[in-house]
Amino acid sequence: MKFEVLPSLLAADFGNLERDARRAEAAGADQLHLDIMDGHFVPNLSMGPDVVAMAKQVVGIPLSVHLMLTNPDRYIERFAEAGATTIQIHLESDCDIAATLQSIRECGVRPGMVLNPDTPAEKALPFLDQVDEILCMTVFPGYGGQSFMPEVMSSVKVLRKASNQSGRNNLGIMVDGGINAETGALSALNGANMFVAGTYLYRAEDMAREILNLRNAAEQNFV
Ligand code: DX5
Ligand code: ZN
Repeated sequence: MKFEVLPSLLAADFGNLERDARRAEAAGADQLHLDIMDGHFVPNLSMGPDVVAMAKQVVGIPLSVHLMLTNPDRYIERFAEAGATTIQIHLESDCDIAATLQSIRECGVRPGMVLNPDTPAEKALPFLDQVDEILCMTVFPGYGGQSFMPEVMSSVKVLRKASNQSGRNNLGIMVDGGINAETGALSALNGANMFVAGTYLYRAEDMAREILNLRNAAEQNFV
């Protein structure tokens, strides 16, 4: 199993986004995570395709684009052109999920699916074959700096089991929200192998050391 750590640019200094994107890569991040919010699907507004294009120019690591949009289907091409490696859409968004995942694939981008903390994991099962990764939100999306919700671990467990049973052992299972070495370890224990962390990594004194800590904690606890 490959364990990946993805710093979330939402926790960066917005006056120094370029510097902070580079800082994540230099610290050993596996991917950079970009949170896109429309002020409608979630109450907050964040960044758009231009920030993804900036990141594409300044770092060489893959770009994980998390769309918190009511109508993500309208923006797939824009984010693909901007340089997204993965585009993740919420299962709760207002679009044809299967068709949108398909259009992501057709753009040459890896499709991912996201579940809010209160969405039953079973709802993701019909789309398992269409995605390269599933993100289980461990906070309600919209803001960084919230507390990890341990009750989401049951979903992580269900999805890891389902992916193993369907022979998709390489399916990425990601957690996002309140992740640090401790909550990352608990998530790995339940089957997660990809870890998004904003506050924990961008506020750390030594980002490289904390990326290692998180990856090691995950590796040691994964079952
Ligand atoms: C929340 C975003 C997260 C956020 C995580 O809606 O999806 O990616 O940046 O921030 P922390 O790690 O601070 O909870
Ligand atoms: Zn995110």
